[in-house]
Amino acid sequence: MTRISVTVDGVDYSDEVEPRTLLVHYLREQLGKTGTVVGCDTSNCGACTVHLDGRSVKSCNVLAVQADGHDVTTIEGLATNGELHPMQQAFHECHALQCGYCTPGMIMQAIDVLNDNPNPSEQEIRVGLEGNLCRCTGYHNIVKAVQQAAGAGAATGSSAGTTSGSTLGGEPV
Ligand code: FES
Ligand code: FES
Repeated sequence: MTRISVTVDGVDYSDEVEPRTLLVHYLREQLGKTGTVVGCDTSNCGACTVHLDGRSVKSCNVLAVQADGHDVTTIEGLATNGELHPMQQAFHECHALQCGYCTPGMIMQAIDVLNDNPNPSEQEIRVGLEGNLCRCTGYHNIVKAVQQAAGAGAATGSSAGTTSGSTLGGEPV
């Protein structure tokens, strides 16, 4: 076992983990952060996307020990003082979900897209989200929500840095 110290959603934790423990499993099973979900475990779907030091990562593709000394934000850390993050609000208002399983990861990645480019074109949004799969195929309203959130200044959200946590994925249509 290895001791790690990590800040998650603004709270400091110090825990023993096995070196092979994935960040997503640490978040869900040791911290109870079940808002971050597992859709594939093979870095294909993006459902597990969180922010690590302000950059989106697929937390099934990161070891918990790699988060030692770092700052993690999950979907559960976005709202402030009971107010939804502008991206969460936009998903709600645009009906940008059906079953909701992809939604946590989709929102975390969408914020990252806007941090990288606060005023993206529709095509840039689709490219930015290409590593996040929605099995309900609700991409149209998801793109609308990101456009609305861009107008609401969602780029000033939880994280300052950017990257694509994406690797593979279907082209949103
Ligand atoms: S569960 Fe991590 S990418 Fe699918
Ligand atoms: S809303 Fe069901 S997977 Fe996206």
